[in-house]
Amino acid sequence: MADERKVAIVTGASQGIGAGIVEAFRDLGYAVVANSRNIRPSQDEGIATVAGSIADRNVAASIATTAVERFGRIDTLVNNAGIFIAKPFVEFTEEDFRNAIDTNVAGFFHITQFVATQMLRQGFGHIVQMTTTLVDQPQAGVPGSLAALTKGGLDAITRSLAIEYATAGIRVNAVAPGIIRTPMHAGDPLDELAKLHPVGRLGEVEDIVDAVLYLERSTFVTGETLHVDGGQHAGRW
Ligand SMILES: NC(=O)c1ccc[n+]([C@@H]2O[C@H](COP(=O)([O-])OP(=O)(O)OC[C@H]3O[C@@H](n4cnc5c(N)ncnc54)[C@H](OP(=O)(O)O)[C@@H]3O)[C@@H](O)[C@H]2O)c1
Repeated sequence: MADERKVAIVTGASQGIGAGIVEAFRDLGYAVVANSRNIRPSQDEGIATVAGSIADRNVAASIATTAVERFGRIDTLVNNAGIFIAKPFVEFTEEDFRNAIDTNVAGFFHITQFVATQMLRQGFGHIVQMTTTLVDQPQAGVPGSLAALTKGGLDAITRSLAIEYATAGIRVNAVAPGIIRTPMHAGDPLDELAKLHPVGRLGEVEDIVDAVLYLERSTFVTGETLHVDGGQHAGRW
């Protein structure tokens, strides 16, 4: 029966970390609703795609509705869509600010409201966001204050919702990546970026996928931000 198959929603799913998470959930037998602005329809019957900006409340509603109407339930929401704009603080434009708030914050808020409503009805669910280790460990030379502002909010609300939903069967967690080799860093000096990690290498998409899958199966873990950053959050090196 379709309703017995687990169902995950992944935002920002067309490339990079999001695409890796979609593949991993499909390998586990989940049906997946995948979103990004430019995502294409899938030939896989277990993947429904919803194109559009996650900042748009109507798109968020459509993603949640698609999951329930097509697959019958929502087990997991991965709030992965996000942007990173690196600039000294006083050089951010109003457009930078709006884009970061829209994608990183509104893009979490709308879909999570719709999905949590469904999860409360079901009595189970798991919500995971992508933050960044820069929230806890800013680095000289990586001007990430706008990421700290927006992803820091996601980090905080992870614990807030974990407590709010602790007795409702809904777990809420986050993954805080270091620098991961994805199209986000196409054109960046990867050898130099690798040196920004104590272990001396970049993260790979699989490193983040492993963390999401760990959180997915760890039923005693909620309110956790799991750092997957080659040791960056541990201190100076
Ligand atoms: N890579 C890193 O080093 C790193 C480090 C820390 C945190 N993260 C976080 O990890 C997440 C994934 O990063 P990534 O490196 O895989 O990024 P990426 O390669 O740039 O991919 C971003 C994905 O998000 C989608 N997207 C962007 N804006 C969107 C919007 N408004 N609505 C819906 N989808 C949108 C993009 O597809 P479309 O263009 O089709 O919309 C794409 O699928 C992000 O939240 C990022 O902040 C990444």
